[in-house]
Amino acid sequence: MKIMGPVPLKGEVEISTSKNAILPILAASLLSEEKKIIHKIPDIDDVEIIIQLIKELGIKVNYFDKSIEFNGSYNQIEPPFELVRQIRASFLVMGPLLARKGSVRISLPGGCAIGTRPIDLHLKGFAILGAQIIQAGGDIIAKGKLRGNHIYLDFPSVGATENLIMAASLAEGTTYIENAALEPEIIDLTNFINSMGGKIKGAGTNVIKIEGVKKLKETEYYPIPDRIEAGTYMVAAAASRGNILLYNVIPEHVKSVTAKLIESGAEVSESDKQIRVKGSDIIKPVYIKTLPYPGFPTDMQAQFMAYLSCAEGSSIITESVFENRFMHVQELLRMGANIKIEGRTAIIKGVRSLDGANVKATDLRAGAALFIAALMARGQTIITDSEHIDRGYEKVTDKLRALGADITR
Ligand code: UD1
Repeated sequence: MKIMGPVPLKGEVEISTSKNAILPILAASLLSEEKKIIHKIPDIDDVEIIIQLIKELGIKVNYFDKSIEFNGSYNQIEPPFELVRQIRASFLVMGPLLARKGSVRISLPGGCAIGTRPIDLHLKGFAILGAQIIQAGGDIIAKGKLRGNHIYLDFPSVGATENLIMAASLAEGTTYIENAALEPEIIDLTNFINSMGGKIKGAGTNVIKIEGVKKLKETEYYPIPDRIEAGTYMVAAAASRGNILLYNVIPEHVKSVTAKLIESGAEVSESDKQIRVKGSDIIKPVYIKTLPYPGFPTDMQAQFMAYLSCAEGSSIITESVFENRFMHVQELLRMGANIKIEGRTAIIKGVRSLDGANVKATDLRAGAALFIAALMARGQTIITDSEHIDRGYEKVTDKLRALGADITR
């Protein structure tokens, strides 16, 4: 990805469907063999991989426009290794397969290299629901009839909450997930399952009650817009000292990002499903600590660091969700940023401006941070390994170009 900067972004941008909502929803389509239609499917690589995985299990998949229809029964319970290793969210098919088929074999997942990202909470939860878990080679095998139970999560893991909701939705009896994740994507997943006849209450709070049902039925569903894509364009607007209107966004879902942008001096105004962000010439330093929702999202940390690297003063960012999520720092340093890392904290001393450089996208959000830095920087930036960005940003080149960026792939 080649970007010539600096360019203030101006215009309007439509936010796509949430990657982190659609992935578990696609996985949950394995909970039943009835017809399901899901609309507004984003054209991003992670979604393509999960759809491919569902196809490999034997489900019939039809596309029409940006919608997808799943149909028919399936008997395969071993998702192919080549697909699972590419994306961590592929592990979300474990709960549905176990609940629907009584057995699943899956290799340990891949995805962004942002820390060890264990799956112990998922497995502990399945065991509490009565599954027998065996680790063989690089694979996890889970089997057995699931029965409702109380599950306390040591940490409100998004993926574990989702996997356990899906497993419990077909278990016999009632399950309570305590210390559940509160993310909007959890609510969207439960709305999807409930639209098929599931009986889930309390999503969005830290105790979720799931009454198991015998069977789920047909549905048609529109998932929520992507709050991280929205947050990224909001920061890009502020960082480039531009002025952007985002539409198809839920302002409530990006409150922490809005608050930090306002604190940094940007102007943010909201109306129904729209947000306008206008950058300020002077960026004020801010303090950020990433936390589970509704705290500041770890998925917005790298983009904010790029932005704050040109603040007037020193900012502090503490990453409390993942233990190794500062890989973008090295690349921002190449562009002239002044950042020091101490454990899980980064101290960002603002510089007057960044300079274009050759940099590498080490993961999805690190890649987003680099295109934001490139929009602020003087001269040409070349981002290699930019395919990481396509995992989560639909038509990113087109969208940035429409906002005035000088960008080519
Ligand atoms: C999801 C999002 C990802 C986001 C993250 C945190 C999707 C597809 N991905 O990832 O974009 O960055 O939430 O908001 O929705 N953990 C354990 N044991 C487990 C599970 C998690 O220790 O069994 C730890 C992880 O290592 C990490 C923390 O919990 O330190 C958060 O992980 P989790 O909430 O599970 O994130 P994901 O679901 O993988």
